[in-house]
Amino acid sequence: MTTQKPSRRRRAATAPKFTVPGMTKKDAVALIDLLQQRLVSLTDLALTLKHVHWNVIGPNFIAVHTMLDPQVDAIHPMVDEIAERIATLGGEPNGLAGGIVATRTWDDYDVGRAPALEHLGALDVVYQGVVEDHRKAVDEVESLDLVTQDMLIGHLEKLELFHWFVRGHLESMDGSLVTGGATTERGAQRKVRASRKKA
Ligand SMILES: [Fe+2]
Repeated sequence: MTTQKPSRRRRAATAPKFTVPGMTKKDAVALIDLLQQRLVSLTDLALTLKHVHWNVIGPNFIAVHTMLDPQVDAIHPMVDEIAERIATLGGEPNGLAGGIVATRTWDDYDVGRAPALEHLGALDVVYQGVVEDHRKAVDEVESLDLVTQDMLIGHLEKLELFHWFVRGHLESMDGSLVTGGATTERGAQRKVRASRKKA
């Protein structure tokens, strides 16, 4: 999972027959499009966290295994809020597996059964992409709809907290991250492995 880029495969939202009072249909379409991307991103994040929950092994297994479920439990209501905001704006939310795969612009998380720290390194990259895109979305809706912006800001507070929970495991004594500079999950996994060999 990496930072989202505009997808050629993505079907743009069609103009709704109605939207919330005081909003133009043009703005509603822009918001629906943007929110559909956030829906896909957070749905994929929840699936990825469950994948890690099931595939983590080794020392710190139970700490990481049990840390992730509350994150999944907090992300599902965010997805629900986004989907319902899309519907409120007159759009058609799509959270189906086929729709997610067709819409997203990144590949599946590509670490399987692996030690806890390696998964956390890969998750650092995942959260980086999700948080960055959520922040971009907050900026983009600034002039369109403050109600949507308020909702996304609420999500960010939790997403950034969860990212810190992940990064807390990867921090060195000098305050740097062992995954520093990694842009892919595999790359982060390799950096964690290398740092453990040195230790
Ligand atoms: Fe479980």
